[in-house]
Amino acid sequence: METGLHKKHVVLTGASGGIGTELTRLLLDEGANVTGSFYSSKRELAELLSQYPDQLSVVKTDIREEADVKGLFVRANDAFGRADVLVANAAIANLEEKPIHEMSLNQWTNTLSINLTGTFLSAKHFFSNLQEYPGEDASLILVGSTAGHFGEAWFADYATSKAALYGLLMSLKNEIVHLAPRGRVNLVNPGWTMTKMAEEALMDPEKVKRIHQTIPMRKTALPADIAHVILFLVSDYLSGHISGQAITVSGGMEGRVLYDLERSDDYKH
Ligand SMILES: NC(=O)c1ccc[n+]([C@@H]2O[C@H](COP(=O)([O-])OP(=O)(O)OC[C@H]3O[C@@H](n4cnc5c(N)ncnc54)[C@H](OP(=O)(O)O)[C@@H]3O)[C@@H](O)[C@H]2O)c1
Repeated sequence: METGLHKKHVVLTGASGGIGTELTRLLLDEGANVTGSFYSSKRELAELLSQYPDQLSVVKTDIREEADVKGLFVRANDAFGRADVLVANAAIANLEEKPIHEMSLNQWTNTLSINLTGTFLSAKHFFSNLQEYPGEDASLILVGSTAGHFGEAWFADYATSKAALYGLLMSLKNEIVHLAPRGRVNLVNPGWTMTKMAEEALMDPEKVKRIHQTIPMRKTALPADIAHVILFLVSDYLSGHISGQAITVSGGMEGRVLYDLERSDDYKH
């Protein structure tokens, strides 16, 4: 199927993560140029770098730091010219359960500064870039989470950082068209996906049982399940009239299991 991605330039934050690496591979296979950011290690991208030396550029970036994010776009422009697409995918999740009355301000601030402020900085410098390099088309894809939709007890920092992306989605879809008349902004909300972010939880059979109780398809996602949907939104050929939409990729997940009545510690009221 034609995707029209040949020579499109996609900037992708968190290219070194599970979903990011899979998406990088799909984009490169379609002939796109990719500027991918990594933070702690580019090891996951080594194979793609040697396979696609002319299409892939990687840049160490801490998305909390405005100078780093600005530098990411300077490096992107030097490598492949105008950035046509930004996939704002980088994020963290602290997987230790923390009721809000035990959550440190430090944890709250750190999660928000990466997941929300980092996404703001990425979008800001992408939009500046669109102003600097005018063009008809542009696409911003935000990566949220089912946690932003359903909430997530004991992970309120993460859920809040992802819920806030709806504000960016609905605002920026109306701003982008002033810089690129066919510009689009969409949000992809993955559910549980087998990457290093979630693997510890997904190795715990009890946790997986509770997760599957909320999902009609009774399975968690692979990175490719999410990356294919993002690829669809990156492509103007495939989704050129879709903007302002949140697409949840979660096997039909419905909320959370709140109580397991077979567990005595869940049945104390
Ligand atoms: N996996 C799931 O179950 C799940 C569920 C819902 C939503 N999501 C969302 O899907 C997206 C991708 O996550 P993933 O599952 O692929 O997780 P992952 O494998 O842990 O990847 C996270 C990526 O974010 C990067 N990153 C972390 N801190 C950063 C910082 N300060 N500056 C720049 N980059 C930073 C990491 O870079 P390094 O690896 O180089 O440090 C990595 O590339 C995230 O937005 C996540 O919230 C995931």
